[in-house]
Order: sequence, then C-alpha cells, then structure tokens
Amino acid sequence: MAKYRSIAIDGPAGAGKSTIAKLTAERLGFIYIDTGAMYRALAVYFLENGIDINDEQSVSAAVKNATVSIKHAKGEQHVFLNGRDVSGLLRAEKVGDAASKTSAYRAVREHLLSLQREQAEKADVIMDGRDIGTAILPDADLKIYLDASCDERARRRLLQLKEKGLESESFEKLKEEIRERDYRDMHRQVSPLKKAEGAIVIDSTEMSVEEVGKKIEALLREKTEA
Ligand code: DC
Repeated sequence: MAKYRSIAIDGPAGAGKSTIAKLTAERLGFIYIDTGAMYRALAVYFLENGIDINDEQSVSAAVKNATVSIKHAKGEQHVFLNGRDVSGLLRAEKVGDAASKTSAYRAVREHLLSLQREQAEKADVIMDGRDIGTAILPDADLKIYLDASCDERARRRLLQLKEKGLESESFEKLKEEIRERDYRDMHRQVSPLKKAEGAIVIDSTEMSVEEVGKKIEALLREKTEA
C-alpha cells in the first residue's frame, strides 16, 4: 500500500480544477500540485528564448535546457524556471496557449514526468492537470474527471478576468478559445485529456465550489475507508 494518499483531478480548461483542488488540499491537509503551472513555466522558457512553439524539433531540443522545480510557501505553489521564480508570469493567455501547444510534444511531457510523480512519494497530494489519473498517478486513491459546460466555463473565466481587473475579451471569443484548447488537449497523440479508468465524473455546471468540495471529500472517505 502506498505510504501517502493521492487525489488526481483531470478535466478541461476552466472546469474549476484548481479552485477545488486548493480548497480540498486546505481542508484535508494535502499538498496541492498544479501541473499546468509546470507546462506554463516551460512555455515561458520557449517564449522568452524565441523558440518556435509550432516546431516540435526546436522545442524538444530546447526543453533540455529548461529546469523546472517547485516549492510551497503558505499553501501556494511557486514554480522555478532555471532557479528563477516565474510564478507571476504564468497566467497570461499567451503563456496558456503556448503551454497547450507545447505540452502535446512527447519530449516536453517526459521532461516533467518524474518531477510530477515524485511529489506523490513525499506527501499526501491532490494533483490537477490533464493526464494525472491516466498517466502520472494511475493508482491514485481517488480519480476525478471534473467537467462543466463550455458556456459555464467561459462565464467563470470572464468573471475571473473582471475580478482581477484584467482586460476581458468578449464572451464569444473566450468560448472560442476554450473550445480550441479543449480540442487540442483532447486530440493530441501523447497523453490526451480523457476520463481515466475508474475516474468519477463530476459535472460542476450547476454546482457550487462548496458542493463539489464536499462531494470529493465524501468520495475520498468512501474509497479509503472501504
Ligand atoms: O491547467 P492549465 O490551464 O494551467 O494548463 C495549461 C496547459 O498545459 C493545458 O492547456 C494543457 C497542458 N497540460 C497538460 O498537457 N497536462 C497537464 N497535466 C497539465 C496541463
């Protein structure tokens, strides 16, 4: 039996994975691991170094020079790129888009594999991403596929941008971007986003954060006390 407990949460962009994972981590005393942030850190490296993100060969050669590491402080994950804390740069739309494109390349995924798996060997973790239940932690105690309708995900994203005081795009444009991102993440050859075997689907379209959090806690109790 594994020494530590683990929860894997996968799902499309904007389904609420990070909000739910953070809340649940806090409540259960788990460490929250945001794997999307690691792909985003690599994207920062490619963008800053003028690497053509559409060219798999260039990206695969460049990724060898980018070391990603993470640290946790006050419940927040900080991501370091070659020793520099790049956490503040990761949320930009351009970075998310580059992360979605470059995460389709095998060399990029392999580069982050051990960093991600190691986290579950040293603490109770709740890890979110696109391939956590399928590829990174297939033996997790609980696997969740968190989904929500495209409209709802775009609505949440718009609200988030407004709250942050960031320039917001139109609802239709956001929806279009979400659709494109989903398509890419679900149709790539290496580790595409899909429901893992044994994963429980939660559609959060009509659920509050509190309700989803409670449901996950109850499911974990069921799984680990069974
Ligand atoms: O979850 P996020 O939006 O921060 O992720 C950004 C991109 O990184 C996402 O579009 C696909 C990729 N990603 C991935 O391929 N595998 C993961 N485990 C996490 C993210």
